[in-house]
Amino acid sequence: MSAVTFLSPVTEEIKLVEDRMRAQAEEAHADLRAALEHLLKAGGKRIRPTLGLLVGNMLGGPLNKIVTLGAAVELLHTATLVHDDLIDGSLLRRGTPTLNARWAPPATVLTGDFIFARAAKLAAEADDLRLMNLFAETLSVIVNGELTQMFTSRGLINRENYYKRIYAKTASLFEMTAHAAAMVSTVNEETIESMRNFGYQIGMAFQIVDDILDYTGDQNAVGKSLGSDLHNGLVTLPGIYYAEANPQDPDVISLPNGGWTHHDNMTRLVENIRASNSPNNAMLEAEKHIDRALELLETMEPSTERDALENLAKYIVDRKV
Ligand code: IPE
Ligand code: IPE
Ligand code: MG
Ligand code: MG
Repeated sequence: MSAVTFLSPVTEEIKLVEDRMRAQAEEAHADLRAALEHLLKAGGKRIRPTLGLLVGNMLGGPLNKIVTLGAAVELLHTATLVHDDLIDGSLLRRGTPTLNARWAPPATVLTGDFIFARAAKLAAEADDLRLMNLFAETLSVIVNGELTQMFTSRGLINRENYYKRIYAKTASLFEMTAHAAAMVSTVNEETIESMRNFGYQIGMAFQIVDDILDYTGDQNAVGKSLGSDLHNGLVTLPGIYYAEANPQDPDVISLPNGGWTHHDNMTRLVENIRASNSPNNAMLEAEKHIDRALELLETMEPSTERDALENLAKYIVDRKV
């Protein structure tokens, strides 16, 4: 499954989204502007605006609002990455050095703040109070999720906690994007709910796959620092499956008591998880979310966009990037 198959119906509109994002760097301090341009040039998969555009176009929504929504969501995503890389100490993103690799933390934090503010401004330009509400609500869910992860979830091996975390940090934004795109495009409540749920399902799958790639991915292809979740105390789905299958492994037992801070032990545990069936078991779970997403699509009228959404959903579990 190549990216082209789901991008092709919206290639031109993605350019409009990028123009709107780029316009947000204007009037900023020269260093800030250079940083923003660097961030935007590095690209990214643009998967969230693609989702919004496909859902909106499928439902015959107003292009201007959907482009604005796409730009707001992608900027919000970009801001969370700027802060996330600082928090995680990641030095590589989209194949280029992160802001925190080059700048001190204060400048990195402020740059993230600036991008958050510009994302909110864009969201306001859609001139829809419900959209603003969803946007603000989602941002608080994301930040609350990151804090929960930082304060209460390090070293914790717990499925419920894992699902809550990935919902908060990732699926909530996919959900919001599909929900908002449907909301500005149709009044049919059932359709809006199906699209919200579609965004939720592919968002959950997206983060599960991201967590698998942290173990099994090729760093050159992925373009970001890998193998670091466990060293940061984050026990994700591959680790949970491994712990369930190997409850006596001393590295597993050590995790909730701060074992994740012991670098050499964690390097060993990462290797053991990688070599086990656990990443594969996690993938089966991601595929279940995609199956649910595909069922939701079947309730929509056939169209080019519906086909592209189907390909987008399948790409999420096939991707190597
Ligand atoms: C990375 O998101 C952060 C996660 C939620 C896993 P993407 O994988 O969409 O990052 P880019 O935008 O393509 O770089
Ligand atoms: C990032 O999750 C989620 C947010 C940015 C809120 P990850 O920490 O797993 O993302 P990567 O792996 O650094 O892209
Ligand atoms: Mg990270
Ligand atoms: Mg990750």
